[in-house]
Amino acid sequence: MSENNYLQVDHLVKYFGDDRAVDGISFGIPEGKFLTLLGPSGCGKTTTLMCIAGLHKPDAGEIRIGSDPVTSIEKRINTAPEKRNIGMVFQSYAIWPHMDVSQNVAYPLEIRNMAQSEIDDRVAEALKIVGLTDMADKNATQLSGGQQQRAALARAMVFRPRLLLFDEPLSNLDLKLREQMRVELKRIQHEIGITSIYVTHDQAEALVMSDEIIVMSKGHIEQTGGPHSIYARPVNKFVSDFIGVANLTEGRIVSNGGGGAGTIEISQGGESVQLPCLLADGLAEGDDAFLSVRPENVDASRQPKDGPRIEGEVIQSVFLGNCLDCRVKWGEFEWKVLAHSRERLRVGEKVYVRLDPDHTLAVRP
Ligand SMILES: Nc1ncnc2c1ncn2[C@@H]1O[C@H](COP(=O)(O)OP(=O)(O)O)[C@@H](O)[C@H]1O
Ligand SMILES: [Mg+2]
Repeated sequence: MSENNYLQVDHLVKYFGDDRAVDGISFGIPEGKFLTLLGPSGCGKTTTLMCIAGLHKPDAGEIRIGSDPVTSIEKRINTAPEKRNIGMVFQSYAIWPHMDVSQNVAYPLEIRNMAQSEIDDRVAEALKIVGLTDMADKNATQLSGGQQQRAALARAMVFRPRLLLFDEPLSNLDLKLREQMRVELKRIQHEIGITSIYVTHDQAEALVMSDEIIVMSKGHIEQTGGPHSIYARPVNKFVSDFIGVANLTEGRIVSNGGGGAGTIEISQGGESVQLPCLLADGLAEGDDAFLSVRPENVDASRQPKDGPRIEGEVIQSVFLGNCLDCRVKWGEFEWKVLAHSRERLRVGEKVYVRLDPDHTLAVRP
């Protein structure tokens, strides 16, 4: 709850009937940063965004933008959406087909009664930033999906809002365009420096674009952090499973060596092995936990190496050039392994699986 945050959301609750769509979440974002709400469909991302925009009234909580409390249920404050000075870009393009591109972008300035010369300057500037200068006179329906989203972005930022909110704006685009637009959107946001909140269920999108990611499920926050820490140090099973690919298996903490390091024991078919690992906060000796390790931090070889032994059988081996994408069966568990391509492992072979202890995590269930 930092005073330094430009946007601050505190203990936000929103019910639909008996459903708690947003379950008392708190977060903040410093000025100029790009924050992503990431989570599966139905976890409360859009509802949170709508509360910030003033389009939903929450049942409890507070929202502050700059020094302005825009929502406080306790203090009976709920500023109208049009007075919040927020720009929004949605999944559906939402640009008007009966207007040309520059008329679309000019609209928010016209309803603010701005002088025509100023409108012309601002529209030209916004179109330049999104790369649509040449399309200014085209009818909106003549634009491709990607161009329509750029026009929607130009319209959302032309009145220089305090905040930009994005709700899955790239979901309707095909994969290649989506990948281009991720980088493009992030570049534009960085260039104009408007504090932004972005909603997506796509973890790759979140990792590429965000300064900070909030992983949500079922109306609450599972983890907050930068892309690197969310990927490399998930704190629980949900985040580990939702972001990227991980080997996840049940275990128990057998020692806590201090300094965040410890040992986890995992078992399969009567065989147990103890592995050095990094412990997520809050895990203590004797706790149930999950072992989490990414395939790039698991190796398989014919010769045993030092350290704990996990012996299994190769059941899949796909040559990817720089590595082998393997599955190694150990009891009922299948290790996903990116092995060194010089190992040339074949299906049916017995191999030793080795986990990089610096990237082996014990996470909360
Ligand atoms: N207008 C609404 N009326 C009733 N239930 C809603 C409404 N909007 C969302 N919900 C419910 O609230 C939960 C969160 O929805 P939403 O915020 O849209 O999730 P997300 O954007 O993460 O997919 C879901 O269970 C959804 O069905
Ligand atoms: Mg949504």
